[in-house]
Amino acid sequence: MTRKFEIARSDNDEQGAGRTAPDTFPGAGPEVHLVKRFEPLAVLAVASEAFPVVKTGGLADVIGSLPKALLSQGIATRTLIPAYPMALANCEDREIVGQMSVLGENVTLWASHCHELELLLVDCPSLFDRRGGPYLDDQGSDYADNWRRFALLSAVGAKIAAEGVDDWRPDLVHLHDWQAGLTAAYMRAAGIDIPTVITIHNLAFQGQFPANLFPALGLPEHFFNVDGLEYYGDISFLKAGIRLSDAVTTVSPTYAREILTEEQGMGMAGVLQSRRSVLSGIVNGIDEDIWNPLTDPYITENYDLDTIERRKENRQAVEQTFGLIPGDGAILSVVSRLTWQKGIDLLAPVVQGIVDRGARLIVIGEGDPDIVYTLADQARRHSGRVVLHIGFSEEAAHLLHAGSDIVVQPSRFEPCGLTQLYALRYGAIPVVSRTGGLAETVIDANEAATAAGAATGFHFHPGSVEDLYQAIDRALTAYENADAWNRLQTQAMRTSFGWARSAERYACLYRRLVRGHTPPSQERRQ
Ligand code: ADP
Ligand code: GLC
Repeated sequence: MTRKFEIARSDNDEQGAGRTAPDTFPGAGPEVHLVKRFEPLAVLAVASEAFPVVKTGGLADVIGSLPKALLSQGIATRTLIPAYPMALANCEDREIVGQMSVLGENVTLWASHCHELELLLVDCPSLFDRRGGPYLDDQGSDYADNWRRFALLSAVGAKIAAEGVDDWRPDLVHLHDWQAGLTAAYMRAAGIDIPTVITIHNLAFQGQFPANLFPALGLPEHFFNVDGLEYYGDISFLKAGIRLSDAVTTVSPTYAREILTEEQGMGMAGVLQSRRSVLSGIVNGIDEDIWNPLTDPYITENYDLDTIERRKENRQAVEQTFGLIPGDGAILSVVSRLTWQKGIDLLAPVVQGIVDRGARLIVIGEGDPDIVYTLADQARRHSGRVVLHIGFSEEAAHLLHAGSDIVVQPSRFEPCGLTQLYALRYGAIPVVSRTGGLAETVIDANEAATAAGAATGFHFHPGSVEDLYQAIDRALTAYENADAWNRLQTQAMRTSFGWARSAERYACLYRRLVRGHTPPSQERRQ
């Protein structure tokens, strides 16, 4: 027997009030299955990177994993990204689904079912066929025409929203970060009556360009105003997305509150306050298939909570791979962009303290030359105990989560952060600054949380070297007590940060917007 029902939802479901009906009816016996009746929705996601096709950071992880989670909510996503050379190389099996002229450029649109994603690739060689990365040239500088590259991506997004691809049309368009922000503007300009959501993954990147570029965007003149793209006399693609989308989300509820303050609003606090009623925070999830220590192909020995002692093989592999002097002292690792945002400059002053306590530190990443120089100097002074590995390696990131004891994430601000979520799942204990998503996903091992068996890591005050050292010191003290450490690892590995709950919140938001969508023309008359 199969019974169908609809799930009751409240208006603020995406904030966490959603009620999920059970899959089976308690006490009704295994033959009674309740099937959630979802109205299927088609979503177009517009973004600048998607794992595993092209990745520079956490944005790619989210774009690559959220669609899979949304499928179980009845939501089918097609994801539009630029056809960078790496994206084309990674999606060889593809077909042309459109050819168009956009912003004076000839564009080919490819469709590819690639790594479980339904990708649409915007192929415009003059803008995307470059030797560097998605945003930077091979010298590490921003491409001078990034404004045009991502305006084109956004304009193609709007065109797909209007005309569809083959016989597929989206019910909603989900924009990610400034690179997709103008999609909302192009859709408004063309009067396309489909709801839009923009997710802010990092408010520090706003797509701000000189106002004299505005005419080249091909938008109506009146869009250059305080309610549109105009931003302190310049133009901002992110502001366009925030002002002109139907809903605005960011990647943790804490960050959603922080960005409304002048202190953390990065100049956008006022703009965000004006959209307060449609702003919410939905914490990121992780792809639990890819980040699973029991099946991870990148690590030396697979393990789970029941076989956690096998971690030591990964620990040895870390020592060998990174050239650490072998020993019992804790291994601390940092897998990060090496930037001020990530607080990596706070590490050098605590290195001596780490080494004095018999611990070792591995830092892997790329970034700010000054920070790299200072850390390289520390690595030279403490050879075999401090290692700096400059580069981006998915494989090394997995091994470090599986084989280091402590993962340090000293961000000055952190919209969500994924590294600490991977660390928790792999039984590496996070030391994090108390900010954004870090504050809400890691539970500090204070007396109360320790007594309650809830602690999963250590917090410190963002930006403070002294407080960072104290948190590391607390972690190292816990590490010396095998029972205490085992309890922490168990609690960390039991925390679940899969996508299920957050995908449900996105699904609630999408459905509410699709059901209640007010065409922009009517909205303006209100
Ligand atoms: P952000 O996107 O701000 O850089 P997140 O914590 O959300 O921060 O995501 C960072 C992602 O990039 C994670 O998947 C992390 O493993 C990965 N990452 C960062 N630096 C490196 C590196 N040097 N090598 C491999 N992966 C890295
Ligand atoms: C950004 C943020 C990071 C977040 C990621 C994915 O890069 O800096 O905190 O986890 O986007 O949303």
